[in-house]
Parts: sequence; structure tokens; C-alpha cells
Amino acid sequence: MSEPSEGLSNLLHEERRFPPPAELTANANYGAEAYAAAATDRLGFWDDKARRLSWATDWTQTLDWSDAPHAKWFVGGKLNASVNCVDRHVEAGLGDRVAIHFEGEPGDTRTITYAELGVLVAKAAHALTELGVKQGDRVAIYLPMSVEAVVSMLACARVGAIHSVIFGGFSAQAIYDRVIDADASLVITADGGWRRGKVFALKPVVDEALAKGTTGVKNVIVVRRGENDVDFDAERDVWWHELVDRQPDTHTAEAFDAENPLFILYTSGTTGKPKGILHTTGGYLTQAAYTHHAAFDLKAETDVYWCTADIGWVTGHSYIVYGPLANGATQVIYEGTPDTPTQDRFWQIVEKYRVSLLYTAPTTIRTFMKWGEELPAAHDLSSLRVLGSVGEPINPEAWMWYRRVIGGDRCPIVDTWWQTETGAMMISPLPGVTATKPGSAMKALPGVSVDVVDDVGTPVPNGGGGLLVLTEPWPAMLRGIWKDDARFVETYWSRFAAQGYYFAGDGAKKDEDGDLWLLGRVDDVMNVSGHRISTTEVESALVSHPSVAEAAVVGANDPTTGQGIVAFVILRGNTANGGDAQVAELRNHVAKEIGAIAKPRQILVVAELPKTRSGKIMRRLLRDVAENRAVGDVTTLADSSVMDLISSGLSSGKAED
Ligand code: WT7
Repeated sequence: MSEPSEGLSNLLHEERRFPPPAELTANANYGAEAYAAAATDRLGFWDDKARRLSWATDWTQTLDWSDAPHAKWFVGGKLNASVNCVDRHVEAGLGDRVAIHFEGEPGDTRTITYAELGVLVAKAAHALTELGVKQGDRVAIYLPMSVEAVVSMLACARVGAIHSVIFGGFSAQAIYDRVIDADASLVITADGGWRRGKVFALKPVVDEALAKGTTGVKNVIVVRRGENDVDFDAERDVWWHELVDRQPDTHTAEAFDAENPLFILYTSGTTGKPKGILHTTGGYLTQAAYTHHAAFDLKAETDVYWCTADIGWVTGHSYIVYGPLANGATQVIYEGTPDTPTQDRFWQIVEKYRVSLLYTAPTTIRTFMKWGEELPAAHDLSSLRVLGSVGEPINPEAWMWYRRVIGGDRCPIVDTWWQTETGAMMISPLPGVTATKPGSAMKALPGVSVDVVDDVGTPVPNGGGGLLVLTEPWPAMLRGIWKDDARFVETYWSRFAAQGYYFAGDGAKKDEDGDLWLLGRVDDVMNVSGHRISTTEVESALVSHPSVAEAAVVGANDPTTGQGIVAFVILRGNTANGGDAQVAELRNHVAKEIGAIAKPRQILVVAELPKTRSGKIMRRLLRDVAENRAVGDVTTLADSSVMDLISSGLSSGKAED
């Protein structure tokens, strides 16, 4: 297990408390009694949350855990996720409520009401059916942040197809791997999207991906957004506006089983191959909607909510699409980057739409800290009410800055811990109840059961540290890894099989009050700007380059991105000189293999790598080097002089952008 960073362990004696504002408490969606209700009757509590949705057929059993760790929630219940996100609000007379304020990066805008969203989803659902997409088929979605991205996901849900959204920054190779693994029959993409003032290509990347080998893809739908030229395969490709616009504007949806698969989302694990995390319908939607309602204290009639994540990550799935729309919320969706055209774009957006609930990542907050508080200070942010954080541990300085500069010292901060696998928030303050501490996610939400345990699964006492586990099944839990049940059982359920606990892969501490402090991953998974990237994945990309003999990758602390990727490579003698140009080529090679997010911050050319006698690379020692620390215990190395060799060779071999 890796050591918690010193900064965090010092703060386990945090004295500061930020109680909720009295007015928020007085009108809160959830009070302290929710914890008691869930503790007394956990399954009854979840029944109540499920009843917030609209079901075509009631369930007969809340949870079937007889085949653990394979769960079935709301057994026998039937519902349609897209009906819950759209139609039922229109039927309730809320058709004129704005669902989405879309803000394009160049400044174009679209306002979509729930009634209009219903028409768009109906047309897209008919379009999928026309292309032969049926229940259970997989649809890959590779789109910029856009109304069409939301509509595509809901249209899949409407016809019972399983969407697999691929983040728009991923490479052709990554798309190909995901399309093959899920055996997708359709890809939905765009000619391009706007980022930092330029159009980035999407369709050409899909073309390149599908040219890599035989796939099951029969059609590619292309949204026009970038107005750039794209090649068209007349047999396979079809413009969104030509296919979707002419479809009927109403669509009768079928209700599907609560356990009907809703989506697959790939995430990095400790091996090179990403895992297709599978989520189903009833439990997922129940928890996504409940947690959004609870953690943000959402008042759908008056709040304007904005989650700055991309739809390509789970945060976008649960807290842009399914949670907020199931709750009938009004939200902002922004296409581009926070610095375009100027570094106050986010604060312009908050002011313009009177955003009241904001959900963003610590890495973004730290970037704003660097840019200076004059930028937010120049805007009216008085509409803000609750501020959320997600994706990585939030350091107390960033927490305090977020509270003071963005929240005007009045908005509660909800630091929400969860994962692609958990589907929805698990640990978070309740904004009307919790007296928060800067840097702590505090405790499990009502209905959720977590603990911190030692290596053999015994809960640690208050003041102790260990591994975060989830001790009871939860509705939004992953139902498996696509086509790899053995890996599902092994990765999450084998470590504490005796206790039946889910192993999250995070280190955590309980402070004196029993409140939780998340300390980062304990496995070979890095967290770069809140994105999960496995060391092995980057290593595989590096060794796929002809000049690389061997590679070892570590995540080094980074003041802005949380962790930065640092790679140590051994070059093949005859092909390489290790110069700047070659290092640059290797960095680009990783971007090409995986995507720009995986590009190493630094590549160090070395003659040897530190290995144990059994051949395992000791990343701990490399992390010491990458973080400029004295190198730790080397006694288990097969050859203890290796580290001297690496450290001495470094000053010259450093190659950074
Ligand atoms: C990993 C999951 C949850 C959506 C975005 C990331 C880290 C996430 C927090 C938090 C400390 C956090 C964990 C977790 N993480 N939220 N509030 N405090 N760490 O989803 O890509 O599946 O990554 O992100 O290490 O295991 P993901």
C-alpha cells in the first residue's frame, strides 16, 4: 500500500468546522433523520428512493444477493430510463422547463426544454430503430459535449440498447479496442467539436479506428458541429440531420427489466486492458437520482445546476445525464475549456445562467487558484448555493479557496467520493446536515455502508488508516466487467472474500470523529486531473514503440493535476540516442496509442530499472526519484546499485516540456 501524502496525514487533526447555513438546513431535502432511517431499514430506504422514479411494473424484491457478488436490485420491476429522464416531466406539466442551457465554446447557445428534449430523443430513438439497433445491441458514442451526446445516450436507453461512450480525447486505437471489446454495431460521432478556439477532429479518428481491422460496425452517424470536411463512406456513414430530423416526433417507449443493461463505460485497471464496467437500469437510476437530489439539495424548480465534467466519464453519465434529468433539473452544458476565450469563462457562465449548484474537480480548482482570484471576483457569483468536488482527494488549501473565493464563504462544499464502478456517489456530506472539514469527504451517504479496514479486513479504530471497503451492496453497483466475470470477481471481491466486502482500491483514514479522509489509490492506477490511467497501460504503449526495450511508469505528485505521469525507459541500443527529439516522439506515441491525457509529463531515459528478485518493478523507488525524494529502502532489489545508477544519470537525462 502506498503511503498517504504528508500534507494529508497532518490534516487528520483538522480543527476547522463549517456548519451548514441555517437557511439551507431549514429547507433541506435531507435532514439528519435520513441516516437513522437508512440505518434502521436499509432496503426499505432504497425502496423509497426507487419510488422517486416512475415504474411501469413494480418490483417484487428489493435486493437479490443470493448469487453474490452478482446483485439484482428491484427484481421484477420494469421501467424505461429515458421516460424517467424526459417524458414523465412533460406529462407532469413541466414541458416548458429548461432541461439544458447549451453553451458552445465559440459562444453559440441553445436552450432545450424538457418538451423539446422529448422530441429530440423520440426522433433519435426512431433513427436507431431504422438502422436496426435493437435491445441489447451496443452503440459507441464519440461526441463532443453537446445536446446530441445527451440525446444519443437517452435514445439508446429508450430502445434498450447499451451505450458505450468513449471520451472525445481518446485515440483511434482506444476506440478500436473498445468497439471490438463491446462488439458495437453503431458509432455516433461528429465532424468535430470546439476546444481552445479550434475545431478538433472526431470523425477522421473514427475512420482510422474502423480501418484497423474488421469490426461489427454497420453504420456511423455523424453530427455536424465543426463544419469541417470529413470523408464519407456512402454505405456506412449518415449525417445526423439527414437521418434524425425526418423521424416522427413521438415515440412509444417499452419498459425494460430493472436489470436491463444501460451502459458500458471503460475504465483503467491495473493491467493494460481497460475494463468495460457494466451498469444496469433500475438501481443505477435510483441512486444517481437520489444522490444528486441529496448531495446538492436540488430544488428542481429554482436551481440551475452545472457539472463541468465531460460526458465521456462516469461523472458526465450520472451527474449530467441520468441524475439531473431524472430529477427534472435545469442544467448548463458547456462545450469547451475554461480558458477560452479568457480564463474567466466559467465565471461568465455562472453569472450568465445564475448557476446555483456547481460540480467540478480539484484539478480545475487548483488551476483557477493559479489564474488568480481577481477573475472570479470580477463576476457576480451570488447565485451559487452548493459547491461539489469529485475525482480525486481535494487538498485543504483548494477546499478553502473554493469555499472562500467561489462560494463567498456561504456555500457548503460537498466532496463526493465514488467511482465508475460504484455508478453514483457513496461518500459525501449532506449540505443541510454536515459540519464539514476541509479535505474530508466526511461519511457515507444514507443507505451506503463503508468502512476502513486493515490488510485482513478488520475495521481500523478511529484515528487509524487502511483500505476503503464497501460493506453492503448498493443499487448503482457495477453488475460486472463486460465479458470478463473472472476479472470482476478477482478485482473487487477476492481481497476481502471472507467478509464479502467490495475492495475499492483506495487508501483512507478515519479521524478521531470517525470521519473519512480519502488518500488516493493503493494500486498501480494513477489519477491525472481526475482521470484514471493505469501505469501498465502507459508502459504497454511505450514498449509498443520500436525504440523502447523496457518501460516503467509512476504517478508523481503534481501541484495542479494531482498526479503527473513520469516514465522511465530503457532504449534499444541500436535504434536510439535518448535525445530530446526521441523523448518527444515517445510522448507523442503514447498520445497516439491512448490519448493526449496519457502523455507522460516527463520521460527519463535510464540504463536499468529497479526490480525485485522475482522481476517485479519497484515503482515505489521510481516514485521517490520522480518526486525528488531520497530513495527509500532498496534491500529487496535484486541489484541494489541500480538506484544509484538511475539517480546519477538523471540530471542529464531529464526531458520535460
Ligand atoms: C477514483 C475513481 C467518481 C467520478 C470521477 C472519477 C478517486 C474520486 C474522489 C474524492 C478522493 C476520489 C478515487 C477513486 N476519487 N472521487 N472525492 N476524493 N478520491 O471516477 O475514474 O472511476 O475514478 O477516483 O481514487 O477510486 P473514476
